[in-house]
Amino acid sequence: MSTASYLAADALSTIRWQLLASPSVQAAGIKLWLCQLHTAQPLLAGNKCLKLKYHIQQIQQLQCAGILTFGGAYSNHLAAVAAVCQQLGLKSHALLRADSLDPKNPTVTYCLSQGMTFSLLSREQYRTRQQTDFLQQLKLQYADLYLVPEGGSSSLGVQGVAELPLALTPAGQADLICCASASGGTLAGIALGQPHCQVLGISVLRDSSLSSRVQQLITDTLGKDSSTMPGNWHLTDTEPALAYGKFSQQQLQFCLEFKRENGITLEPVYTGKAMHKLYQLINSGHFARGSRLVFFHTGGLQGLAGLYSRGKISQADYVLLSAPEAD
Ligand SMILES: Cc1ncc(COP(=O)(O)O)c(C=O)c1O
Repeated sequence: MSTASYLAADALSTIRWQLLASPSVQAAGIKLWLCQLHTAQPLLAGNKCLKLKYHIQQIQQLQCAGILTFGGAYSNHLAAVAAVCQQLGLKSHALLRADSLDPKNPTVTYCLSQGMTFSLLSREQYRTRQQTDFLQQLKLQYADLYLVPEGGSSSLGVQGVAELPLALTPAGQADLICCASASGGTLAGIALGQPHCQVLGISVLRDSSLSSRVQQLITDTLGKDSSTMPGNWHLTDTEPALAYGKFSQQQLQFCLEFKRENGITLEPVYTGKAMHKLYQLINSGHFARGSRLVFFHTGGLQGLAGLYSRGKISQADYVLLSAPEAD
């Protein structure tokens, strides 16, 4: 294991590298490195502190009162925004995809405790969240707040992710970096930041527009300088390819087995679904023997409490998955 300090958002973060010793990975002749980004505030771990870093900088420069953003009822992004805004004395307001504020929802309860306020959007209203008219109206309505898109995926979010030196494993340059992908900013940032490495995004939702959104984020971040447009990334689906938030028994069992084997927590909505697919690819001989792969652990462990509260995972599963990780 190897660690290094890394300054992101407002907190001193630590990059932790770990070579995974799963027998099936070793049998395939693959060196698989897990990269975790730990933060003093656990809700900012993984991609969260990276995607929020330049948004926060911008808010401080523009002297905005806080953040206006979007998310689903169990969103890791909303929990991270609520935490960072509370820490920095900023306001936070979320447009929540929900019909009501469920007092049993641990994510919403946490966000409320950090001072986040909510407006509720129906599923249909939520679908308009990227439309110019709607965004313009929001900017007028919440003039003192800085609008951060869903998942923090904007060119500012992409720039933050691009700074993490994911291709530099303790054993040398990686051949491929892999991550879970949903709103696309993480994949776009890694592709831009690590131009000499292949990057594989594993989509955790059934959304045929994800690829064009990643491309758009890359274009927006590069601005006019499209001569440096990277062609080093691609997307694949999980197997089975289920809708966002849904997972198979196999995918859940994989997370449990992974925790027992490596002492590291994955959850079945993002990192577990993606790592399961990576193992399927490794076991099917997709990668040449001797390849050095990196999996970026994007965080999101607060979501486990919501899965348990909705009966999507059992108490025993919750206890195992939320147990502290091995040092
Ligand atoms: C834990 C976790 N992993 C991966 C992702 C996917 O990142 P992105 O939305 O940038 O594609 C998210 C969403 O932000 C997430 O919460």
